[in-house]
Amino acid sequence: MNFELLKQTALADLEKASDDVSREAWRVKYLGRKSDLSLFLRSLAEKTDQEKRALGPQANALRKELELRFHGAVVGGRYRPETFRFDVTQPGVKHETGHLHPLTLVSRDILRIFVSMGFDVATGPEIESAYYNFDALNIPAWHPARETMDTMWLDLPELQKPLPERGQTGYQYPAGYKFLLRTHTSPIQIRYMETHKPPFRMVVGDGRAFRNEATDARHEFQLNQLEGLMIGTDVSIATLRSVIHDFFRGFFGPDVAMRMVPSYYPFVEPGVDITVSCVGCKGKNRACKICGGLGWLEVAGAGMVHPNVLKAVALDPKKWQGFAFGFGVDRLAMTKYAIDDIRLFMSGDERFIRQF
Ligand code: PHE
Repeated sequence: MNFELLKQTALADLEKASDDVSREAWRVKYLGRKSDLSLFLRSLAEKTDQEKRALGPQANALRKELELRFHGAVVGGRYRPETFRFDVTQPGVKHETGHLHPLTLVSRDILRIFVSMGFDVATGPEIESAYYNFDALNIPAWHPARETMDTMWLDLPELQKPLPERGQTGYQYPAGYKFLLRTHTSPIQIRYMETHKPPFRMVVGDGRAFRNEATDARHEFQLNQLEGLMIGTDVSIATLRSVIHDFFRGFFGPDVAMRMVPSYYPFVEPGVDITVSCVGCKGKNRACKICGGLGWLEVAGAGMVHPNVLKAVALDPKKWQGFAFGFGVDRLAMTKYAIDDIRLFMSGDERFIRQF
């Protein structure tokens, strides 16, 4: 087969093809399934390896070139067929768009409600010092409550140097100071009180916290918290209850029931745990995996800010008082959407993620 001759005649013919019909005829003749070139390419299969190596690349290159010229002529100019058009009735190519993770959706939902109640939105670092995570929150080094936190301590020599706190207090860490992945978002209470004058109310927007915990359906080593703090001269535990109840009504709807039961956190006094009625089983399934068959799900710790915490940020406990709360955002999401395994959130399993 004379490739050069074929090329010359094909290109000359292409020049002459000036309408759709003749161009289609050209395409069939030179590139169609029964064209000399296609037949030749197909016949290569029966040839020896040596012949294949000698002729295959040439034949393929020629076909490429003819295809390019053919399409190039369409796109490039001279040839402007009336029939070259876009078929609007063809099904389109579907572009997958991403969407927000259920935890992000829930966090935004929560923030929207608190912001509507006049709460400021604060943030803080995920690598935290023992001072903010523990000491200032009335958990000194000797206190057994440190043991309950399953802390992931960090060995970061560069953080032992004094840090310029981003626009914040300029607190200078003493030499040999210890750092950790924050075990809760309560240290942001301290950071906020150091930099704001009461009265105020704030919530923490991006509350990742970390614990060196064995995971199961209700525990993860990375959890998401929603911290809140409200300080004033007349903020009471009744205020706490009404704020939380308003929040629940906004988040779950009017039917949700809540309970406050006494509990212990070193940085509040009195301290409570807040539970909501289980939307999964409504208290009717002893084997419910969401609430563990209890009918109630513990979603938050809370209480009145301990006088020692106020003293740590130089607020007079005789004048100022207030409450703090810490929600488990994962727990709230599980309750709202009846999700029975916390590990799904971070599993990256699309079958789960796509449902939201
Ligand atoms: N920080 C506590 C925890 O992670 C929750 C909490 C926050 C309790 C604020 C009381 C007040 O367990």
